[in-house]
Amino acid sequence: MKITIIGSGYVGLTTGACFAEVGHEVLCVDNNEEKIARLLKGDIPIYEPGLEEIVLKNVASGNLRFTTSTEEGVQSGEVVFIAVPTPPNEDGSVDLRFIEKVAREISPAIDSYKVIVDKSTVPVNTGEKVAETIKRYAPDSDFDVVSNPEFLREGCAVSDLMNPDRIVIGANSDRALALMKKVYEPFMAPILVTDINSAELIKHAANSFLALKISYINAVSAVCEATGADIEMVAEGIGADKRIGRAFLNAGLGYGGSCFPKDIAAFIAISDQLGTPFDLLKEVERINVTQLERFIDRIRKKLWVLQDKKIAVWGLAFKPDTDDVRCSVAIELVEKLVAEGAQITAYDPQGAENAKNLPIGSKIKIADSAETAVKDAEALIIATEWPEFASADFFAVHKSMLAPLIFDGRNLLDPRKMAQLGFEYHGIGRAPVENAPSTENS
Ligand code: UDX
Repeated sequence: MKITIIGSGYVGLTTGACFAEVGHEVLCVDNNEEKIARLLKGDIPIYEPGLEEIVLKNVASGNLRFTTSTEEGVQSGEVVFIAVPTPPNEDGSVDLRFIEKVAREISPAIDSYKVIVDKSTVPVNTGEKVAETIKRYAPDSDFDVVSNPEFLREGCAVSDLMNPDRIVIGANSDRALALMKKVYEPFMAPILVTDINSAELIKHAANSFLALKISYINAVSAVCEATGADIEMVAEGIGADKRIGRAFLNAGLGYGGSCFPKDIAAFIAISDQLGTPFDLLKEVERINVTQLERFIDRIRKKLWVLQDKKIAVWGLAFKPDTDDVRCSVAIELVEKLVAEGAQITAYDPQGAENAKNLPIGSKIKIADSAETAVKDAEALIIATEWPEFASADFFAVHKSMLAPLIFDGRNLLDPRKMAQLGFEYHGIGRAPVENAPSTENS
């Protein structure tokens, strides 16, 4: 099929590349000339495992092309996906100006029947507005609007796109639905067909539910800390119930990234605007904020005054396997510690460069390895659960630190092992451990 993607950012580019990979002819459009020039040279602007390979392969085969011309894009595609940013306004509501602009810009170029698909995360009822806009600017045009939300996760976007749990197609026309099914046929994944409004709602409701799961387990972790129970065991026990499931029950410093904080705030704003306030989600946000505050309180309790204290931080990315530091809780943590005068040396396997470009980047030292970051540190904080941190040489770390104190904000390490190595260990939702007796042969 001939597919056009308008907006070649994270979602647009990866979606376009995966469509090309399964055999569609894809044209990716972006109004950023520099970005398109880079892509035409085979220079991929984002890091995502497997993406570069499929982009280069499909550009070479002619299945994937790039342009800055919206007109060319609309005219060449039977199905036109909109994948432009939907950033938050100050009050948490969604800024839809890019969606509106694309709807306006594609209108005059519609020269035959088109399916216009909204892939961006948008508030419920946006599809209706897009259709109204196109009708206003091109009253005689023949088109249908479809909602097809994207559920990919950063760090495994290509594999999520190629093997989705489900594909949601919100369509109010059989003609559009038939074309959409043809687009997704090669993926051999379950397809859920809904009306447009329901599809739009599914995206916000799904992300909010996942955030709710995280805040739930984080709230339970606070109870564990107050009682000496162990959150890892509690999560296992809860998650073993098939109705609940173990996924997204990892207690930590809270959720971050460019989706959850924005989408939960958006769903709260949408519900408020509709006159159906969703106070449960306000609590989800509150727990996410207090989770970090509680962690910092525990560091303060141990180190007392943070002014001039040398603290090593492992992890700056908002989660492992990504270089993305946007809305990262690790960055927020570092900012708060720096505000209290702590001297931070941080290390992140992929996110260091992006962190350097943030305002906080000039106020901290960025080390080039996990081991060098801990030199003379009075405490080590694990803020992102990169697997390589778990296999660090903790003998060397112990020797290098001024005091062997670990705050594990992601429960990455085994507390007893750390205690056996001579560390004082503080995790999330677990009792602190210090000099535990060896249980090797017991
Ligand atoms: C999320 C959704 O998973 C995805 O479906 C949607 O399309 C975009 O938003 P992403 O932002 O890439 O994807 O990250 P995800 O892996 O979901 O993690 C989000 C945040 O939750 C991270 O900060 C992570 O550290 C945190 N998290 C996740 C936890 O604290 N505990 C968990 O158990 C799981």
